[in-house]
Amino acid sequence: MLQDLEYIKTDFLVVGTGIAGLYTALNLSSLGQVIILTKEQIEDSNTQYAQGGIAAVLDQGDSWELHLEDTLQAGAGLCDYRAVQVLVQNGPDRVRELIKLGTNFDHIEGTLDLTREGAHSKRRILHARGDATGVEIREALTRVIQRNNNVIVREDSFMIDLVLDGGPLTRKVAGVVVFDQRRHCYQIYLARVVVLASGGCGQIYANTSNPDVTTGDGIAAAYRAGATLIDMEFMQFHPTTLYNPTGPSFLISESVRGEGGILLNKKKERFMPNYHPQAELAPRDIVARSILKEAEKDGMPYVWLDVTACKPGFVEKRFPTIYQTLLQYGHDLSQELIPVIPAAHYMMGGVRTDIDGQTDVERLYACGEVACNGVHGANRLASNSLLDGLVFGHRIYEAIRARRSTLNMIDNYNSLLIPPLKPNGQASPLIKEIGNRLRQEMDKKVGMIRKSEQLETMIRWSQQQWQGLNNYPVSDQESWELANMLQISEMIARAALLREESRGGHYRSDFPVKEAHWSKTHIIFNLDYPEGKQDVLE
Ligand code: SIN
Repeated sequence: MLQDLEYIKTDFLVVGTGIAGLYTALNLSSLGQVIILTKEQIEDSNTQYAQGGIAAVLDQGDSWELHLEDTLQAGAGLCDYRAVQVLVQNGPDRVRELIKLGTNFDHIEGTLDLTREGAHSKRRILHARGDATGVEIREALTRVIQRNNNVIVREDSFMIDLVLDGGPLTRKVAGVVVFDQRRHCYQIYLARVVVLASGGCGQIYANTSNPDVTTGDGIAAAYRAGATLIDMEFMQFHPTTLYNPTGPSFLISESVRGEGGILLNKKKERFMPNYHPQAELAPRDIVARSILKEAEKDGMPYVWLDVTACKPGFVEKRFPTIYQTLLQYGHDLSQELIPVIPAAHYMMGGVRTDIDGQTDVERLYACGEVACNGVHGANRLASNSLLDGLVFGHRIYEAIRARRSTLNMIDNYNSLLIPPLKPNGQASPLIKEIGNRLRQEMDKKVGMIRKSEQLETMIRWSQQQWQGLNNYPVSDQESWELANMLQISEMIARAALLREESRGGHYRSDFPVKEAHWSKTHIIFNLDYPEGKQDVLE
């Protein structure tokens, strides 16, 4: 088998083409050759769908201390203070750099048009093309990368697993095993360092704002390579996605509420002021749960979003993507109430890293949604995620630059531990069926409101499917993705079961209160603790 494999060497490997991957790759290109791997096309990531914007302190009347306070407050007592400090203090410089690289943020009368989103005490969200911030950033970074001779982008290259140098006990990564979907072959990419920027796992839910690619491949591969996963119980549900039972879900940015949008119940009464003093701009977890409560009280599958009080022409200009997309689904945002429900949106947990993006595995770094460096705590502050990708991508670059003389390339192929590979082939139609079932089960049993019996059932179900999947003689991308999703779903359910309290994005109907003793306790998973373990930070 091994002699059939193609080996490709480079200095740095980056997996993922969202903001974190592209920006980290660009920085690393000053130190050596970079290959970026992405399983589909360069534009296929959550970044592409980012509407609201990127939060950073760029206004005289704002301060990093306020941004820090808002982030900690939203994080419900579980953020890492030092990581948040790094985020908010470095954020403005990183955003200025993004502007220098060609990103055009929206301006009004010559100054940046800053908007507000939930739980921000100031207007500090930069946006582009109204509500297509992610597209603008991704296009700007792609243009620079295409002109850079030190960066190669390999599309249609699915990361199956990490390759270790010397096995799991040495905990040292040497590269990545990939399935090249254009040439239908396995390849081994070897590098001095691997950076995971492969995004989150929203696709484990049926009701999600995330695109198809978000199957948690990086999270699962890092775990299998010996990395620690942390805070997996904290899935963020975005309060407002279009209620569209016959078609795909569609995100309606928090900035719509930031610009005056309000939420109404069945009787067309505003209800958020009854739940929180910040009303529609309360932290996301609170708005999302209030929507569920109100809808349930009314026996409705949705509540209404109302933006009709905006000045004529404002909605079309400020939110062109949302306006046009909703029109395609038959709703006029400027004139009508829009039915909305919460949907799975962002994984706050992930591969545990320090504030330089280093994981527990030597030479394996992670940034962006795949990583958990402690900035988001139990509930991410709106528009902090693009910033997270930039700031910690840059920290990774700085950390690698400082130690690059010690990062030699592997020369002994005999010490490589390459995971067993099944022949590639057409996977059973059952794979799709199990995937769909998984998403529905996660919605029902590990959604916004959780309780022990349902979590236990989900764990058993995932384990059974996982065992069944291992018996299939062939594999294809869909089977690998399903394996990753099953592994992650089981961990989310286990973490949610272990955390016997409610905090941020994690709500247990059988333990509805936030408990002080949990504020320093995280749930971790690694090869030594596959069923999860409480980790108390001092
Ligand atoms: C939004 O525009 O509401 C999404 C932004 C985010 O998730 O931070």
